[in-house]
Amino acid sequence: MCGIFAYLNYLVAKDRQTIFDILTSGLARLEYRGYDSAGLAVDGDAAKEVLIYKQVGKVAALKKLVSEQKIDFERSFVSHCGMAHTRWATHGQPSPTNSHPHRSDPTGEFTVVHNGIITNYKELKTVLENKGYRFESETDTEAVAKLAKYIYDTQNADQNLSFTALVKGVAKELEGAFALIFKSVHYPDEIVATRRGSPLLIGVKTEKKLKVDFVDVEFGTDEKVSEAGNLLSPTDGIPKLRRSQSRAFLSEDGLPQPIEYFLASDPSAIVEHTKRVLYLEDDDIAHISEGELHIHRLRHDDGISAIRAIQTLEIELAEIMKGSFDHFMQKEIYEQPESVVNTMRGRVNFENHKVTLGGLKAYLATIRRCRRIVFCACGTSYHSCLATRAIFEELTEIPVSVELASDFLDRKTPIFRDDVCVFVSQSGETADTILALRYCLERGALCLGITNTVGSTISRETHCGVHINAGPEIGVASTKAYTSQYIALVMMAIQLSEDRTSMTQRRIDIINELYKLPQYIKQVLSIDKELQNLAKNELLKEKSLLIMGRGFQNATCLEGALKIKEVSYMHSEGILAGELKHGPLALIDENMPVILIMTKDSLYPKVQSALQQVTARKGKPIIICNDGDEGIEVQYEAIRVPQTVDCLQGILTIIPLQLLSYHLAVLNGVDVDFPRNLAKSVTVE
Ligand code: F6R
Repeated sequence: MCGIFAYLNYLVAKDRQTIFDILTSGLARLEYRGYDSAGLAVDGDAAKEVLIYKQVGKVAALKKLVSEQKIDFERSFVSHCGMAHTRWATHGQPSPTNSHPHRSDPTGEFTVVHNGIITNYKELKTVLENKGYRFESETDTEAVAKLAKYIYDTQNADQNLSFTALVKGVAKELEGAFALIFKSVHYPDEIVATRRGSPLLIGVKTEKKLKVDFVDVEFGTDEKVSEAGNLLSPTDGIPKLRRSQSRAFLSEDGLPQPIEYFLASDPSAIVEHTKRVLYLEDDDIAHISEGELHIHRLRHDDGISAIRAIQTLEIELAEIMKGSFDHFMQKEIYEQPESVVNTMRGRVNFENHKVTLGGLKAYLATIRRCRRIVFCACGTSYHSCLATRAIFEELTEIPVSVELASDFLDRKTPIFRDDVCVFVSQSGETADTILALRYCLERGALCLGITNTVGSTISRETHCGVHINAGPEIGVASTKAYTSQYIALVMMAIQLSEDRTSMTQRRIDIINELYKLPQYIKQVLSIDKELQNLAKNELLKEKSLLIMGRGFQNATCLEGALKIKEVSYMHSEGILAGELKHGPLALIDENMPVILIMTKDSLYPKVQSALQQVTARKGKPIIICNDGDEGIEVQYEAIRVPQTVDCLQGILTIIPLQLLSYHLAVLNGVDVDFPRNLAKSVTVE
């Protein structure tokens, strides 16, 4: 849902072309978050001049637009601040005017990039319009840029208003979710960033050794801090002293030094420059000026320290590159033999059949005592919860409910202190899931996070949890994260059940099969060519595809149908085979394409009866079956996968559907990693 990026160099000479390159390559890494338009702002040649370029389409289109400008690309800047944005439209359709950066006025005194939604922008806009500010776009963000100018115009009479104080004034007026970066011709070579509900981190690069301590500054200068409130909230109009901020001592000697800062919505845009990052917390105001980084709290009396640890990123650049694959989605499907191992690494002991999830250790007793477990997630992550619910209930004997985060909130579901709520999210930044998490925290439930993103909001705000360690997932369609979430949840169920001796053999059987999974996955990947042919010769011409199964395979049907819809744009529906006769059977005739999942588990006889119901209506299903199921292989078109223990079979049946959806998308000419109307990280409700 939009990616924001900014770059600031201090005492490090960079020519304008290099600055453009840094901004656009940062944006390209964030493009999966939104890609309907892009824009950037850099300094012009004259003092107080800003150059803003915006283009509909992907970052490549913006790059082209920039390269066509008649400007001095070789001009060198010793210190400079640039910002950029890639958009997934929420307010106003994709157009250059609606693209970011947004400006406060035609000369661009203040420019702003934003990820999130400002829910009270209409009120702000009305007030500002009444004060004579003219809006040019339909976006919520423009109100932020105009508000910055309004505060500057009304509160800087004595030329004493700092950029930090100004942004504090802005942030105090805003409702909703945001990560915001501000640049201003009035504060050259400075940048201010803030966040509430949307992610933002800062990378720090310097040649000298970093002394990364932050110190709390209890009383600063008598800087005027606007209590703002001039627009929508009441004001006391009294300038306050700055009381809570931290200062990073970035060099050992404390002297100014050459330094570069990279601000981004996620680490993938930073890792090629530096691995040293700090994550901003809600209501942090980060100010960079003269090479120094200061972090302030929006309200000095909220009791939260402004000290932020500098951490070392663990991802490698190669992990976020496509390598020899045509698309990230394809690369990520093919990574699954390794990504599942990474999820289990150091956690599953295959010799003594034990699982140890370090993050849960201290909470096991509480979880075992709980009244019920509530899984809560969206989209593919929700499907991973559905896929593992049965084994969870079987192993732990704790009732499990599975909730779509948005619906969970809509229903204001009752949650109690003795509930355990598990929030599953690849990005750890999905707004619906975060809101559901906060709802449960308020009600005193123990909250666990299962995420793929270290440092994400969900991993920080939950009491404990498990990182799935699948590696960065860039393709918008989630693939390897699904199989890793699946395994993480199964591991969790195994660990929770270790006090139940009646389940010992079941645990041993599952762990033995977990060991074999990478090999099985490779076997499934080896039928890729067959699946490509199936897509090309039989399915491409079709308008719709039904995917049926039951029991452990119900989730595979829903997830497979989601993959096909989102990347190939073909209509597809996952159908619980047990429900067939209650309605969907009416769709079946000789022309309706059907995939039936029929693997050898206890429900096999029941799926056989679904097969008969379909064939009796002249349906000709393609069957996903286990290797060696001769009865099926002889009579039907079959997609064969190795047989494993029932509760892990869904990991092997989803992979052919991932591959099928990938090939259908490529054959349909879809930009596979960037399907229309979607974004990787859905940070708005
Ligand atoms: C589908 C897909 C989405 C996400 C959903 C939740 O391929 O990727 O359905 O699964 O938006 O995202 P996370 O897991 O980041 O919370």
